[in-house]
Amino acid sequence: MSTLDNTSLQLPKENPEAEDFLPLLGTDYVELYVGNAKQAAHYYMSAWGFQPLAYAGLETGLKNKVSYVLQQDKIRLVLTSPLKSGGEINRHLDAHGDGVKVIALWVDDATKSYRETVKRGAKAYLEPKILKDEHGQVVLSGIHTYGETVHIFVERKGYDGTFMPGYRPWKPHYSSKDTGLRYVDHMVGNVGWNEMSKWCKFYAEVMGFAQLVSFDDNDISTEYTALMSKVMSNGNGRIKFPINEPADGRKKSQIEEYIEFYNGAGVQHMALATNNIIQTVTSLHNRGVEFLTVPASYYEDVLDRVGEIDEDLAPLRDLGILVDRDDEGYLLQIFTKPILDRPTMFIEIIQRKGAKSFGKGNFKALFEAIEREQKSRGTL
Ligand SMILES: [Fe+2]
Repeated sequence: MSTLDNTSLQLPKENPEAEDFLPLLGTDYVELYVGNAKQAAHYYMSAWGFQPLAYAGLETGLKNKVSYVLQQDKIRLVLTSPLKSGGEINRHLDAHGDGVKVIALWVDDATKSYRETVKRGAKAYLEPKILKDEHGQVVLSGIHTYGETVHIFVERKGYDGTFMPGYRPWKPHYSSKDTGLRYVDHMVGNVGWNEMSKWCKFYAEVMGFAQLVSFDDNDISTEYTALMSKVMSNGNGRIKFPINEPADGRKKSQIEEYIEFYNGAGVQHMALATNNIIQTVTSLHNRGVEFLTVPASYYEDVLDRVGEIDEDLAPLRDLGILVDRDDEGYLLQIFTKPILDRPTMFIEIIQRKGAKSFGKGNFKALFEAIEREQKSRGTL
């Protein structure tokens, strides 16, 4: 991969309230701790169309862990497993199961990002550290966020090797066709009762984010369950973190189910953007990815609600793709069932056609679909 030097780029201001003192240039990678990185890597390649990029393990001098790095356009996943008993990764897996450990953020200056965020109240995770090899250097630093999730700041303007020092190019004989996934649109965190505002304040104070929208339990409730959500964004809009907390309902909300099985706060879903959701979801479906479905009645009045759209309704209905509109345009979205054994994390596929929102008009249909799944798990 070539050097991703974006320092001279003027970043347009998407969220005028936010002060971009870092600034964040994008999501650098998402690292999951998993029980078996080798097999997980095969899943993300064969089912999701990620391409093999880099590898670190015993052969590269690591003693206790292994990591596979996969890429699809601007999305990079790092899958990490422990190689021996004991240690931090095993403890994390025991507590949470497979899940997102790191949301890594691409910055110009990882040392400054660390100093500024720690000065503003972030708890330190990794002091600035320089990694070097013959391709240059990468600087990493890190802070804690909700639960046991962390942010690593990645400065890679001085590097033109594969991923980062310590990794070697990974070129297995197998690769699969990509599925048209392009970038991380947003990453959603689930936090405990009455903790949403605390974590929104954290992103405002520590990273200079501002709130884009908020949804209360009147927006996000069904007959049985409810949740509340606020969306925090950085100034250029490349980083959007909705934060959910449970709200009182007659039955257990999906957020409580998550907190119970993840054993605390953590990443609930990542939303991956595509330019052609019908092609992407057709491809994912054919490779075995399971999506939530909504009743056929959803499509009877969807066009009355959202107006004209470019797509034919039939393939959207066949695939279960949802549509919503805001003042600026519309969006198409669909959600997988949990992608792990525990009912914790899932993935959203989103195509934006002008809309900058998150599908509020679909919340009810979506949460009823989730409740049907919870019921089958005995966790409603
Ligand atoms: Fe989402």
